[in-house]
Amino acid sequence: MALYSRITGTGSCLPPQRLSNADLVSKLAAQGVETSDDWIVERTGIRARHFADDGVFSSDLGLVACRAALQAAGLQASDIDLIIVATSTPDMVFPSTACILQHKLGANGGAAFDVQAVCSGFIYALAVADAMLKTGAARKALVVGAEIFSRILDFTDRTTCVLFGDGAGALVLESGSKPGILASDLHADGRHVGILCVPGHVAGGQVLGDPLLKMEGQAVFKLAVGVLEDAAHATLAKADKTASDIDWLIPHQANIRIIQSTARKLKLPMEKVIVTVDQHGNTSAASIPLALDHGIRSGRVKPGQTLMLEGVGGGLAWGAVLLDL
Ligand SMILES: CC(C)(COP(=O)(O)OP(=O)(O)OC[C@H]1O[C@@H](n2cnc3c(N)ncnc32)[C@H](O)[C@@H]1OP(=O)(O)O)[C@@H](O)C(=O)NCCC(=O)NCCS
Repeated sequence: MALYSRITGTGSCLPPQRLSNADLVSKLAAQGVETSDDWIVERTGIRARHFADDGVFSSDLGLVACRAALQAAGLQASDIDLIIVATSTPDMVFPSTACILQHKLGANGGAAFDVQAVCSGFIYALAVADAMLKTGAARKALVVGAEIFSRILDFTDRTTCVLFGDGAGALVLESGSKPGILASDLHADGRHVGILCVPGHVAGGQVLGDPLLKMEGQAVFKLAVGVLEDAAHATLAKADKTASDIDWLIPHQANIRIIQSTARKLKLPMEKVIVTVDQHGNTSAASIPLALDHGIRSGRVKPGQTLMLEGVGGGLAWGAVLLDL
């Protein structure tokens, strides 16, 4: 009997500290950095983001999201035999945030590891979990995106610090005989490492190089629009489907203009797109599971529907997953 993987529960977490654009504009103005609500909304669609308090880590946000996902799936933490965390802002250099999260959940004993593919990290993690469940390597997985990007932002650089936020999303993926994930498509092009990166590293007890996010926004924008369309079509072709089969596009939430452009290229009306970038900003690997959980809990995304998840980010790395909920 063929094995498939299927989502049986989702959860998410936003830290309580919410900054509207007005809040961020005045915080930045106090440091001599000039921006405006109008600029941020017009260029990105972002109106607010959440920032974690000091002492809160990605595993803490992931823990809340995982507990909600487990509850939705009707499972206990001890049922889980695989945890994959997508993050670029891990709690520490090592061990993995997945191991820390596993211990906080009380789910010790199964496999646990992190995936680092920046804003496409959740797509990578989901594709890897699907492959493991299909081979029988695991049966019940938690796939998590958890980020605290506020720690790696340069608040003197207005071109980047207005774009990102903190948060986590999680889903339970279970193996079984009924197809859930239909196809996935992953890619990277390391020639573009320099256009979106945090170039610092740790050596000899010090951080060497700049440990804050750097981005060439226009270069990322142009590449993102093209690769997202390609990944969506490749994934649909693998599943022998067309864009008209998609009930919901649940894209990485970086910029409303990228989201609109992708929807347009797939000939999907914006009514079929889950948008959370306005309220969350770009939460990197957390943005897709956050958007999925919000779509499900708001009653719009329903069991039996076909979803296209897709993301792109630093690397450049990108990918898409097509699934039946
Ligand atoms: C970052 C981004 C919003 C910038 O928008 P843009 O339309 O490309 O804007 P530009 O970089 O051309 O800058 C236009 C002007 O706005 C200014 N500007 C930049 N950030 C600003 C801010 N926060 N507030 C006010 N003005 C700002 C620039 O200095 C520039 O001014 P100038 O014309 O006087 O030189 C856009 O490039 C983008 O979204 N890129 C993709 C980024 C992304 O999604 N990354 C994550 C992928 S996972």
